[in-house]
Amino acid sequence: MSDILSRLRAIPGLAIVTDADDMAPHLVDWRRRHSGAALALVLPSDTAAVSAVLRACFETGTPVFPQGGNTSVCGGSVPDESGAGIILNLARMNAIRKIDADDDSIIVEAGCILQKVQEAAASADRLFPMSLGAEGSCQIGGNIATNAGGTGVLRYGNMRDLVLGLEVVLADGTVWEGLRTLRKNNSGYDLRNLFAGSEGTLGVITAAALRLFPRPPHTLTAMLAARGNDAVLALARQLRSAFPGEVSALEILSQSQMAIVLRHVPGAKLALPEDADWYLLAEVSGSTAPEALEERLTDALAPAFEAGAVLDAVLATSERQRGELWGLRHHVTEGNVKEGMGLTHDIAVPLAQIGPFIAAAGAWLARELPQAVPVVVGHLGDGNLHYIAMFSHADWAAVSDKPGLTAHLNHALYDIAAAMGGTFSAEHGVGSIHIADMARYKPEAELRMMRAIRQLLDPKGLMNPGRVLP
Ligand code: FAD
Ligand code: LAC
Ligand code: ZN
Repeated sequence: MSDILSRLRAIPGLAIVTDADDMAPHLVDWRRRHSGAALALVLPSDTAAVSAVLRACFETGTPVFPQGGNTSVCGGSVPDESGAGIILNLARMNAIRKIDADDDSIIVEAGCILQKVQEAAASADRLFPMSLGAEGSCQIGGNIATNAGGTGVLRYGNMRDLVLGLEVVLADGTVWEGLRTLRKNNSGYDLRNLFAGSEGTLGVITAAALRLFPRPPHTLTAMLAARGNDAVLALARQLRSAFPGEVSALEILSQSQMAIVLRHVPGAKLALPEDADWYLLAEVSGSTAPEALEERLTDALAPAFEAGAVLDAVLATSERQRGELWGLRHHVTEGNVKEGMGLTHDIAVPLAQIGPFIAAAGAWLARELPQAVPVVVGHLGDGNLHYIAMFSHADWAAVSDKPGLTAHLNHALYDIAAAMGGTFSAEHGVGSIHIADMARYKPEAELRMMRAIRQLLDPKGLMNPGRVLP
């Protein structure tokens, strides 16, 4: 133990924290559901320091737990309970190395906060389209390591689609300099895509070359109150047909989810009927002038209004109103934490199966766990739902010690999704909570290839051990 600490202390450009109070926020996750212990928290200031840390850990057999903004919702960002490893947090590596508007690219260090990258892009009149509720605290390295989704996927893709090149330090300290901004490069296996979604198990991402886009000059944001599962899906389809390539968000909240936000989030208000089944936050953007954009939206929605599927709609006519509508969506997690104990599921199914999934999951919950309220928030355009079984604190206290309750619920929902060709983890990753699900739902051949890759890049099993693979 002292051997690794004395080796770390000799590394230039490395801050080492061992004080218990200073380490505490890094040992527990955002929702306080997962906690661990560590020998030290280390914060390198450059890639050479990361390399030296990993080499020292490799040679002394010390586990390494890479950490970004610690916003993970699957227990992936805090160390295990052994206390034998170190946390390697990238917060001090937060420089924007280069921005090139002509090349539509930006090169940033992995510890850059997502919002800072969005702002840097905007200042060069470009768009970096990754956006999610934790954008003020999550880091680009964490976004890549989890292959984050967020609200812009249907138009711009997942995080992996926004990565052009990477700089990565491997478990033995080797630095892979792959910071290219090429759009085409078929010279062998695509290693970049191996690290996107690797959740800290294959190496430490230290910098990334990212794609930027021209900023659409006009954006129209609308919140629709809708009736019926089928109607909300039909509506989403209709909007995508009416605005080909221009829909940049299609987010849904169930009535139960909207009620929680209105109850708990300070300042949240809704200028729509509060008894709709669904609220659909739709955003379209492009070069069409605002008035024409609004006219096209009104035309697209007219049949749904006439059929009674849309009860009402509000359009944001200012940036402030747009922020208010997005605030309702982005504060769901905050509201849910205050509401009670939410057992969250991050499933995805093919789009046509969204309605059947909601029906089947709701029926199962009503039958098996009638105390739980189904709360749904999701990235509808991607077929990705956060399906939450919400218990009041009192109901949860009464049932939480029932053995196997959570596993029973999880298996039921994941079995339903799997039978529809879906997944138990759409965008949050595997972390520590889905290890058993990997064994249950992944084909053995896939697991075998993954294990072989991990064995090759992390032969001593030191990188974020206990995460991703059973
Ligand atoms: P952390 O939580 O610190 O780490 C996540 C994983 O990445 C861990 O396994 C860690 O070991 C690894 N890691 C971190 N940095 C590195 C690195 N430099 N090199 C190698 N591995 C690394 N996720 C979505 O996909 N879509 C959403 O819409 C979304 N919304 C959210 C809203 C809220 C309010 C919150 C709290 C979370 C949300 N998340 C969402 C989950 C989370 O924010 C994302 O997964 C985010 O990408 C994690 O980034 P982070 O920097 O916080 O990483
Ligand atoms: C969201 C997170 C939880 O979509 O992924 O709000
Ligand atoms: Zn999400």
